Amino acid sequence: MLVSTLNITLSTVKLREIDAPLLALLIPEDTKQLKDQLLELDGLLEKSVTKVLSSEGFKGKLYSSFLISTTNKIKPDYLLLSGLGPWTDISTESFRIASGEAALRASNLGVEKYALYIDPSSAESGVRKVTEAVVEGAELALYTYSRYKSQSEKKSIKELILVTDQGEEISQLKAVAADAEKVCEGVKLARDLANTPSSDMTPTIFAEEAKNVASKVGLGCIVLGLEEIKQLGMGGILNVSRGSKEEPKVVILRYKGGKAEDKPIVLVGKGVTFDSGGISIKPSEKMEDMKYDKSGAATVIATIYVAANLHLPLNIVAIAPLVENLPSGSAYKPGDIVKHYGGKTSEVISTDAEGRLILADVLAYAVDKEKPKAIIDLATLTGACVIALGSQASGLFGNDQALIEKLKKAAEVSGERVWQLPLWREYSDQIKSEVADMKNSGGRSGGAITAAAFLSNFVGTTPWVHLDIAGTAYTADDGTKVKTYTPKGATGVGVRLLINLLKDWKFTSS
Ligand code: BES
Ligand code: MN
Ligand code: ZN
Repeated sequence: MLVSTLNITLSTVKLREIDAPLLALLIPEDTKQLKDQLLELDGLLEKSVTKVLSSEGFKGKLYSSFLISTTNKIKPDYLLLSGLGPWTDISTESFRIASGEAALRASNLGVEKYALYIDPSSAESGVRKVTEAVVEGAELALYTYSRYKSQSEKKSIKELILVTDQGEEISQLKAVAADAEKVCEGVKLARDLANTPSSDMTPTIFAEEAKNVASKVGLGCIVLGLEEIKQLGMGGILNVSRGSKEEPKVVILRYKGGKAEDKPIVLVGKGVTFDSGGISIKPSEKMEDMKYDKSGAATVIATIYVAANLHLPLNIVAIAPLVENLPSGSAYKPGDIVKHYGGKTSEVISTDAEGRLILADVLAYAVDKEKPKAIIDLATLTGACVIALGSQASGLFGNDQALIEKLKKAAEVSGERVWQLPLWREYSDQIKSEVADMKNSGGRSGGAITAAAFLSNFVGTTPWVHLDIAGTAYTADDGTKVKTYTPKGATGVGVRLLINLLKDWKFTSS
């Protein structure tokens, strides 16, 4: 899996002299008065920018853009105005969206390169943060999943010139842009892994891809196969995978950027390469979307790759249990009881509640073997979470409010919203079993919460956060607003969130 990125450079050349066919400007809503370089440019263009801004054609609304021909008065042939929305609402997220809009417009024009001006006067949040956001917006908007297109549908853009007035800061801005590129490479890797159809991304193939990723940046890599999974007593993984011809795998990647004695942060990701529901089979409508049920695994593999690429001073372990959930003569069945790593048992009410069964094994394993300072798991775990939050936020649960607050803070930076739901003790009553330690379904009410409550039984007192990304891992065709930088399909949700979390990790109680 090879991820390509744009060639991004920084330049302090005057806007009128930029060597690109198209120059994008990010404009706040209801801009009346242009300043500095933009004022000068407007003068050279016989006030055509001001005219557009005072017409009905373009008001600077977020998601809107307007193309102006420069009729040979300056070097670029076109100016592209892309809206940032109302002044009072401008955030780094506005810059991501506006930059994504500009990238898509530029791409539709078929140009190979374009320039984008980082206007210091609209960058209240700081030129560095804006640089990071515009790189993310462009890179992620231009992503396409084209592996199976016989005619190349690659986007035309190869080069982006970021233009800045901050001459003295240019080397820092270059470093910021380079780091942002590394993060985007990870997001695209996660998207590729999740977008690939299940028959070409089986647990075995996924594990191979993870190995390749590991070898690129020197991560430790262990893949547990069927025999080892049996020996370790990972009954959840064994049973869920029984209905498929595909062997289950557990991928464990290790990054050692911290001190030898530092306990690691463990990232766990659900890797169901296809979820048919098993014997408790799903309706066929939209079942194709269940290739995305490996999104959590994709995100944790991509995140540890980026962490290594950025040389973060931490020890991190990424663990992904990989299975295919199919019905067959050898499949596990409702009523079965499975014994997890460590000995706890669960009664299978629904074979479609398979995610929690495989996560239980690796959560218990991680606590036992790694003694982590924190565990964060990501899983497309419940349809109930989609009902509760839709596609605008991931469900957030945990047993440690300090860790939860860190995640919330990181989410504000990355723009990947999270929303905390409660884990009150009473919810656990819904998953009490007559015959086992617990059951794998608590019925329809509070389904996202009872799933998280189930997982909480396997982490003990280790600080732990669970993110239910069922609604955010891919963009569904249901009319909900899609951001410019998240094209249809897998979103790679969580990579930027986790990287932001890891970047300012300060765990006082470590
Ligand atoms: N992978 C699904 C959850 C899911 C649903 C993800 C829709 C993305 C979109 C999960 O394995 C599942 O089937 N959960 C069941 C649990 C129930 C049987 C307790 C669900 O949500 O219906
Ligand atoms: Mn399921
Ligand atoms: Zn599932």
